[in-house]
Amino acid sequence: MISIQGVVTGSYIIAIVLFILALGGLSNQETARRGNWYGIFGMTIALVATVVGFVNPETYPILLAALVIGASIGLFAAHRIQMTQMPELVAVLHSLVGIAAVAVGYANFMGHGGQLTGVELTIHDIETYIGVLIGAVTFSGSVIAFGKLSGRIGGNPLTLPGRHWFNLGLLLAVIWFGYQFVIGSAAGTGMLPLLIMTVIALVFGIHMVMAIGGADMPVVVSMLNSYSGWAAAAVGFMLGNDLLIVTGALVGSSGAILSYIMCRAMNRKFLSVIAGGFGTGGGTSASSGEQDGEIVAIESEETAALLLAAKEVMIIPGYGMAVAQAQHVVNEITKTLRGKGVNVRFGIHPVAGRMPGHMNVLLAEAKVPYDIVYELDEINDDFPKIDVSMVIGANDIVNPSAQTDPDGPIGGMPVLECWKGETTIVLKRSMATGYAGVQNPLFFKDNTRMLFGDAKDTLDAVFKAL
Ligand code: TAP
Repeated sequence: MISIQGVVTGSYIIAIVLFILALGGLSNQETARRGNWYGIFGMTIALVATVVGFVNPETYPILLAALVIGASIGLFAAHRIQMTQMPELVAVLHSLVGIAAVAVGYANFMGHGGQLTGVELTIHDIETYIGVLIGAVTFSGSVIAFGKLSGRIGGNPLTLPGRHWFNLGLLLAVIWFGYQFVIGSAAGTGMLPLLIMTVIALVFGIHMVMAIGGADMPVVVSMLNSYSGWAAAAVGFMLGNDLLIVTGALVGSSGAILSYIMCRAMNRKFLSVIAGGFGTGGGTSASSGEQDGEIVAIESEETAALLLAAKEVMIIPGYGMAVAQAQHVVNEITKTLRGKGVNVRFGIHPVAGRMPGHMNVLLAEAKVPYDIVYELDEINDDFPKIDVSMVIGANDIVNPSAQTDPDGPIGGMPVLECWKGETTIVLKRSMATGYAGVQNPLFFKDNTRMLFGDAKDTLDAVFKAL
């Protein structure tokens, strides 16, 4: 006879394999869609197995109601959200994982019913304490990240005097109350230290993300992604659920690896990003007077002529292409130019846009062939051979001051060196700065031309002229 427990365990193993295949699939654009399907199948199997294996059938109606409400909110949000609001949505979703971990931790603490004693109880209490701690930090940090990414909270880093001592004080307090919690738990006095620690963890989450400046926000998004995974793993330990432990660890470690990759891409040390106090707020207007040199504007017709006369064209998309939703016309222009024998390639910066892979997703949506899309490392040495670089709504990622001003907000960040080519055409609406809030000397170089206007409108005109 096959027991229900056996079927549940088997289903969990299948779900875990599917999650691993999903992560593998997502690492490459050509297999990303398949990877998503693996994830969807894995999650469906996990949900059904958990409901069948662990939920009392009498509570099915309540569970169904919760599922319908949750799924409806999720569907509504997914349909309404614009591609440019994706990082905010991700931050909100991380905050939900955090608050869920806190809720499970409290329920678990109040409901252990004294069945556990001795070492088992201590281990259980430590699991609960750590789960609530990570959950609360993830929750408040994600809420602040949402505020910063959506512009509701200013992007400047909050640099409190003695902030590292403040953080150290919070950490010591968390350890002290952890001790109080574990010794008080059996005696029934554990609730107060747990509550105090939750408040401390919430304050720490707020302070940690508030201290991180605009240009370093990419790392925060992936770091909170990692925390949400560890929060889920902690819930798995509390509930004795192997699937949650493994899934949480997968999310936690892949988020940590992503944070590391983002830090490397931006030439930052992970610890100094977390310690914060770096970078500035989002785009502000900048006067041209701060720079030497003049701005030379260009029109769409001239742009088309330059593109047609070129042999080698590099397109550098940035956040503005996402705002303008110009990816489809970019693809049409690419097809036309390639049809006329121009070698068109795309140079993608690892932090272009507002989330990891933002540009790749947009280009894939517009059906730009993958084999002409290159990463910064693969393409940066080729710029001296490029006739025309077209920078579409990008700013920080093509800012030479990252190299010339090492102490500036983006100092040391690798950038696409388009100014080394013959001509650079920058498409943007004004002279406003990018996310990091720094002026861009590229706009004032002799071989740069500015094509002002919404990128979709100007590119439509370029396409017509082609
Ligand atoms: P940004 O430096 O933010 O520059 C985007 C430019 O697009 C702006 O200067 C803006 O200038 C222009 N723009 C906006 N809407 C436009 C439209 N409709 N048509 C034409 N241009 C438009 O973007 P980037 O170069 O992609 O660099 C990304 C920045 O975001 C980095 O600083 C990075 O650290 C940060 N960041 C990245 C992430 C991830 S994970 N990728 C997450 C958070 C933050 P106008 O206003 O003059 O048009």
